[in-house]
Amino acid sequence: MTFKVLISDPLSEEGIQPLQEAKEVEVTINTGLKPDELKAIIGEYDALLVRSQTKVTRDIIEKASNLKIIGRAGVGVDNIDLDAATEHGVIVVNAPDGNTNSAAEHTMAMIMSLARNIPQAYYALKNQRWDRKKYVGVELKNKTLGIVGLGRIGAEVASRAKGQRMNVVAYDPFLTEEKADEMGIGYGTLDEVLQQADFITVHTPLLKETHHIINRDAFAKMKDGVRIVNCARGGIIDEDALFDAIVSGKVAGAGLDVFEEEPITDHKLLELTEVIATPHLGASTVEAQESVAIDVSQDVVNFLTGGGIARNPVNLSSVPKEVMKKIEPYFHLAEKMGAFLSYLTKAAIEEINIYYSGELADLEVSPLSRNTVKGLLKRHLGDHVNEVNAAFLAEKKGITIKEHKTSKTKGFTNLLTVTVQTKNGVRRVAGTLLNGLGPRIVKVDQYSVDVVPEGHLIFVSHKDQPGVIGRVGSLLAEQDINIATMQVGRSDVGGDAIMMLTVDRHVEEAGLQQLTELVDINAVTAIDL
Ligand code: NAD
Ligand code: MLT
Repeated sequence: MTFKVLISDPLSEEGIQPLQEAKEVEVTINTGLKPDELKAIIGEYDALLVRSQTKVTRDIIEKASNLKIIGRAGVGVDNIDLDAATEHGVIVVNAPDGNTNSAAEHTMAMIMSLARNIPQAYYALKNQRWDRKKYVGVELKNKTLGIVGLGRIGAEVASRAKGQRMNVVAYDPFLTEEKADEMGIGYGTLDEVLQQADFITVHTPLLKETHHIINRDAFAKMKDGVRIVNCARGGIIDEDALFDAIVSGKVAGAGLDVFEEEPITDHKLLELTEVIATPHLGASTVEAQESVAIDVSQDVVNFLTGGGIARNPVNLSSVPKEVMKKIEPYFHLAEKMGAFLSYLTKAAIEEINIYYSGELADLEVSPLSRNTVKGLLKRHLGDHVNEVNAAFLAEKKGITIKEHKTSKTKGFTNLLTVTVQTKNGVRRVAGTLLNGLGPRIVKVDQYSVDVVPEGHLIFVSHKDQPGVIGRVGSLLAEQDINIATMQVGRSDVGGDAIMMLTVDRHVEEAGLQQLTELVDINAVTAIDL
C-alpha cells in the first residue's frame, strides 16, 4: 500500500527526509496553493503537512476523503480547524519542541533591539544619518520583564532574561509559587505582572481567553514607557489599542513578529518608528526548521505505516512513549471487546463504562478507551470511525463514556472490563492478555469463558438442560458449519446458561433463525470479529 503525502508549505529539505525515505510513502511538494486549488486535490492524499501559511479549514477537511493525518511543522495549530479534523477522524500532530529555542532567542533579540533602538539606528545610518542622541537606549539590567504565558518558550525566555540580570515576573494559570521559586522568578496575577514590568513579552497560544488579553484596560495598568514584545501570535495584543498606547506615549516601543492578519506589509503599526517588526521569523532558523520538519515527518510516517502511533497528537491526549509501550498490546483486545459488545447490544447505547484493573490501573489508558469505543461504534457507523473521532461520535449520539480504575485484578495481572448500558439492561465483557497466548475474552456477562476474540463466534444463551448442546452441534453440522471450539457456562444447575462457539465461517441469518427456534434456546448471536 502506498500512502500519498502532500506538503503544502515550504519545509526544510533535510527535515522531510524521513518521509522521502519511507518505502510506502509517496511525497508531493506543492506549495502556495490557493484554498480552491487545495480543495480540488486534497481528496487524493492520506496526509497533509503544513507550516502556518496553509489554512486547513473545515471546507478543505470535508473534501479530504482519504485524509488520515495533518502534520503541523511548528507549535501553533490555529491555522487548522481541529474540531473539523476530529469530527472527520483526522489526527493532527505538531512539533511542539523543535522551535522553542529559536523563538526564545528571537524574543530576546526583539527585547534587546527595542532597548537599544538597533533597527531604527541601523535604518538612520543606512540613510546617511549619524544620530547618536536620538537613539539613546535603556539597559536591561535590573529592569523587570513580565512574561505572560510561561510554557516552553516563556520559560526559555525567563532563563535568558535572568542571564541579562533582569528581574522576571510571570503569569500563567499553571504557574505555582513553588515552581516560580524553583526557577528563580517572581509570580503574580496578570494585573500584577502588567503593573510591575518595564518590558512585557507574551507567550500564550491564541485562544478565546487570550485573544486581546493585552487590550486597552491592560495598557492602562502598565507603567508609563513600557516596552512590549509579541513573538507568539497576532491577536493576543489588540493592535488598535497598541497603536493608541504608542501614540499617547504610554508604550515606548513594541517588537512584533506576528500580526492579526498575515502576511501583511501595509499596517498602521508599521508606520510608527517605535515599532520594530519581523515577518513571523520566530522559528525561522535552519536548526528549528529542520527539527520541526523531522519531528512531524517521523510522526506522519509512524502513523501511516507503523500501526497508528503518533508522538505529538494535538486532538488526542498524548501518552508518554514508555506508557504507550505497555498499553499498546491491549489496543487490539480493547477494540475487539468493543466490537464483541456491539453484537450483544440490541438497543441504543446510553452509557459505556470501561474498568481497568491490575497494572493498567496505574497507567494513562485513554488510547485503550478510545479503541474500545471505536470497536463498539464501528459496526454501526462504519469504517470512518477511528480512535480520533470515536469519543466525539459517541458524544454526538448521546452516549456517556466513563473510565474507572481499580487495583482488584480478580486473579489476572491486568483486566479490562467493558459494560454497556441500554434501556434493556447492562451487558458486560472482560478481557485480558494471557502470557504467551495473546488476547482472551474471559467473561461475558456473569459467565467465565476463555475465547480468542477473532474470527466467527456464536454466542448462545439457553436453559441448562440435557440435549441442548447436542441439538446446537447437530444443526450446525447440517449447515456444514464446523465448530472449532466450544465453551459452556451456567449460573446454576437447570438455570440460565451460555454457549460460546468459534466456528469456521460466518453463520447466515437463516441458520441463526433455526438455531434460535431450537428447544431451550433463548437467544443466538453471530459475532464476526
Ligand atoms: P506552550 O503551550 O508551551 O506554552 C503556552 C503557555 O501559555 C502555557 O504554559 C499556558 O498555560 C499559557 N497560557 C494559556 N492561557 C493563558 C492565559 N490566559 N494567560 C497566561 N498564560 C496562559 O507553547 P509554546 O511552545 O511556549 O508557544 C507559545 C506561543 O508561541 C504559541 O502561541 C506558539 O504558537 C507561538 N510560537 C511562535 C513562533 C514564531 O515563529 N513566532 C514560534 C514558535 C511558537
Ligand atoms: C509556530 O507556531 O511554531 C510558529 O508560528 C512557527 C512557524 O510555523 O512559523
